[in-house]
Amino acid sequence: AYTAAPFVPEGADLDGLRRAAAGCRGCPLHRDATQTVFGAGDADARVMLVGEQPGDQEDRQGTPFVGPAGKLLDRALAEAGIDPGETYVTNAVKHFKFTRAEPRKRRIHKAPTLREMTACGPWLAAELALVEPELIVVLGATAGKALLGSSFRVTEVRGTVLEREIHGRGELLVPTVHPSAVLRARDEDREAAYRGLVADLKVAAGVLS
Ligand code: URA
Repeated sequence: AYTAAPFVPEGADLDGLRRAAAGCRGCPLHRDATQTVFGAGDADARVMLVGEQPGDQEDRQGTPFVGPAGKLLDRALAEAGIDPGETYVTNAVKHFKFTRAEPRKRRIHKAPTLREMTACGPWLAAELALVEPELIVVLGATAGKALLGSSFRVTEVRGTVLEREIHGRGELLVPTVHPSAVLRARDEDREAAYRGLVADLKVAAGVLS
């Protein structure tokens, strides 16, 4: 089975994990991606945000949520009363997965499989054990399935506070939609989708206050 487990060093701090993750060969996604995109942000953060996988910009820059979805997320966080600079952001899968419609054309994001999410799980578990956030904000269905299992449905639980055991630790989680879903919404739906994201993030802010 694909797994990152043999690549995760024991007793490492976040920088040690990040260095080791750069050489992860736990699944085939490293082959086409530019680099591993490990989590980033405040190591003492009270809130950890978990997305799906790096996008095109993140793959090039090596940092999560620096592209359009990240910009929107930062704006929504600030509006909900959470300082983006005081968060830790990461992804369920740490390599960009994509296809191309034609050779040398734009890279199109492709959803990771359950096997790839499971393979990458040891990195997320290690990040959770070190950051020990008070709250996990689950961004979209992939992060939800990676953390809460394949029966996760974002529409059923968004904006609620869940209490679950994850990788052996009791965690509080607030799921919401992925910021990319707001960007993908039709023009006439986008504002409502954005307001929904902010409303869910306000639930998260309430847990932290
Ligand atoms: N979407 C994600 O899920 N993660 C990123 O880092 C960027 C876009």
